[in-house]
Amino acid sequence: METNSVLSAGRTLGVIGAGVMGTTLIKGLVAASLVTRRQVWATARTAETCARVAEELGITAEQDYSEIAEASGIILVCCKPAQIAAICDKLKHANIRPDTLLISILAGVTTERLHSLLPGIWIRALPNTPCAVGEGMTVVCAGPGATQDHLSLAQRIFASVGRSLIVEEHYCNAVTALSGSGPAYMYLVMEALADAGVRVGLRRDLALTLAAQTMLGAAKMVQETGRHPASLRDDVTTPAGCTIGGLLMLEDGKIRSVLARAVEEATRIVEHLGKPAKH
Ligand SMILES: NC(=O)c1ccc[n+]([C@@H]2O[C@H](COP(=O)([O-])OP(=O)(O)OC[C@H]3O[C@@H](n4cnc5c(N)ncnc54)[C@H](OP(=O)(O)O)[C@@H]3O)[C@@H](O)[C@H]2O)c1
Repeated sequence: METNSVLSAGRTLGVIGAGVMGTTLIKGLVAASLVTRRQVWATARTAETCARVAEELGITAEQDYSEIAEASGIILVCCKPAQIAAICDKLKHANIRPDTLLISILAGVTTERLHSLLPGIWIRALPNTPCAVGEGMTVVCAGPGATQDHLSLAQRIFASVGRSLIVEEHYCNAVTALSGSGPAYMYLVMEALADAGVRVGLRRDLALTLAAQTMLGAAKMVQETGRHPASLRDDVTTPAGCTIGGLLMLEDGKIRSVLARAVEEATRIVEHLGKPAKH
């Protein structure tokens, strides 16, 4: 067994829903040596996805996981929220052990609901798509039965694909709306800045490179200096210069309240995502 391993001897890690997020997590875990390929199994809805994932990742991937699930020390549930009831039902008949750590990344599905569908040790995690390039932001929170050790284990799993923090569950919808949806907001801003560059005469590819690297650099400045963004902004804003002119135009366009309203709306929507469908 690897010294870095998140698994105890003889146990495996299962991923239910080997889609975008599920496969990203498997790649991160293997690259960080938290698991070996032989310790991982995955499943998906279709035989096609299972075959592709088995081929691409070199792991066991099967539609029927009722037998392989039994040895799992950790199961990551990465399907869509609408499938959770059916999956928990299947897991109930899969003889998983009482100490198996169940981690759900489903937007909007509370640990209370997860526990009611399948009693067990549940942790809820909220990752985002930049996990695919090792720059994800994942927040984890404890459900019924989860201890600090379980939380630390979950944090290690998601730290393999970026940063990971522990929060209380009542923040989850707000977190989903900010860092879960956040990459989409940033892409929109980058695209708009690239358009702006084209408007003032730059080639599109050059404009997009400038916008993306500038966003990356600004983010690193906030993280690495620990300074407030307003103070860093002051460094760029020389008296009577061009930056203050640009900033005032952004303020005229109500950029602050537009961003705040976007996150507010996404928070409102996510509250309904994980609820059972009404018939
Ligand atoms: N995308 C994001 O930005 C993001 C960020 C954070 C969290 N999340 C959460 O992550 C979850 C997955 O998102 P995703 O973007 O990775 O979705 P995705 O690419 O559509 O992957 C979903 C996977 O679930 C499989 N699946 C469907 N029904 C199943 C079943 N009954 N049993 C087993 N597997 C089943 C699908 O199999 P097939 O391929 O065969 O259909 C697919 O591989 C969602 O709940 C979402 O809330 C997403």
